[in-house]
Amino acid sequence: MSSKLWGGRFTQPTDKFVEEFTASIGFEQRLGRYDIQGSKAHAEMLGRQEIITTAEAEQIISGLDDILNDIEADKLEFSVALEDIHMNVEARLIERIGAVGGKLHTGRSRNDQVAVDIRLYLRDEIDTILSYLKKLESSLIQQAEIHLDVIMPGYTHLQTAQPVLYSHHMLAYREMIARDCSRLRDLRVRFNQMPLGAGALAGTPFPIDREWVAEQLGFDSVTRNSLDSVSDRDFAIEFCSFAGILMMHLSRLSEELILWSSADFDFIELSDSFCTGSSIMPQKKNPDVPELVRGKTGRVYGNLISLLTLMKSLPLAYNKDMQEDKEPLFDTIDTVKGSLKIFADMIAEMKVKGDNMRVAAARGFSTATDVADYCVRKGLPFRQAHEVVGKTVRYCVENGKEIPELSLAEFQIFSDLIEADIYDYVTLEASVNARKATGGTSREAVKRELNRLKSS
Ligand code: ARG
Repeated sequence: MSSKLWGGRFTQPTDKFVEEFTASIGFEQRLGRYDIQGSKAHAEMLGRQEIITTAEAEQIISGLDDILNDIEADKLEFSVALEDIHMNVEARLIERIGAVGGKLHTGRSRNDQVAVDIRLYLRDEIDTILSYLKKLESSLIQQAEIHLDVIMPGYTHLQTAQPVLYSHHMLAYREMIARDCSRLRDLRVRFNQMPLGAGALAGTPFPIDREWVAEQLGFDSVTRNSLDSVSDRDFAIEFCSFAGILMMHLSRLSEELILWSSADFDFIELSDSFCTGSSIMPQKKNPDVPELVRGKTGRVYGNLISLLTLMKSLPLAYNKDMQEDKEPLFDTIDTVKGSLKIFADMIAEMKVKGDNMRVAAARGFSTATDVADYCVRKGLPFRQAHEVVGKTVRYCVENGKEIPELSLAEFQIFSDLIEADIYDYVTLEASVNARKATGGTSREAVKRELNRLKSS
């Protein structure tokens, strides 16, 4: 292959390595069935448009079906020499049905082929992910329903702030998951356009029927510009952005579950099946699952940055760089699916220690704001009320008392506006249930929200 003196020793292994280096078949086998789905629609269209004969189209389609069966049965051997999934399938087709198989690629390029394959694949995965999100949402709603009477400390700065219902806390995560669902549905609509027909970059001179193919493959419409069709990876980036935000949400919940299952909080117990022990400390039950989900958030962010960086400054249209889109996208899909699946079950099986939550909620002067609001209702401007209660809390700290434990005389040291009915306002229940407006933590508001969710 080379006339250079060192050529005999060098060229062969180098060529082989280049082959391996440039091949994508090692990581894109999962596109096999979508590649065939796209090819079948394309072949049928070629037949309908009389670009090839109907008999040829039928032969190609049945050959593709055979290959699909082998792929599903894990019987197809993929070859690195054939570089990618598209050429692996096409070569097998020609091997099986003869030269007519070579007509499949008429009016098409691997550039528009890969664009359609990834879209079909991602669309399928998105539908699975949407169902997993729904399941997690149900687990959160179920937790909220079962534990409607549990009061826990609500925090700001991780310092006890005001008591809230545990149900309200769970429904906060439901809101995040619902927004994630909505983001995913939005991006699905945006990318559900059919790129075949863009050819390598400029379109094709054959009289193809793109609209028909789009309909066959369940796309809402066809893409409008061939250059963009083969070089757009926005949809993968949008998906990874969605995934990054979702994982950020899961990592926040993970962090709380990890804290809550520590001996110091002791608010929940995760089921044994989601934890592991320590090889040295016999007492340990480690919250591995939430820890791992928290950790995996990092790789999902990394994948998003990889894709953004991959696409940055690429000139139109297709560039081989874009083959690097797959591993970050696939890894993101696998990570998100795994995390959602395991979270839905873990949340459903988690044991809530309502009594401990309640004890913690009663600590830290959590009803101080309610005393201030009480003074406001008696006519004191809020700023002065804040001052009064600040002093009351300092008194509590110095005397080792919580607010509801103060006697009326003690309350009145700080304001003579305070009367015996103050005790109706400083219990955990009173504090929680006073917050009745939509979005508040009262039992009434949370129950209304649960009813709304059930009927929607
Ligand atoms: N394996 C390639 C990819 O994933 C398919 C497109 C190849 N096109 C080309 N002109 N080499 O991007």
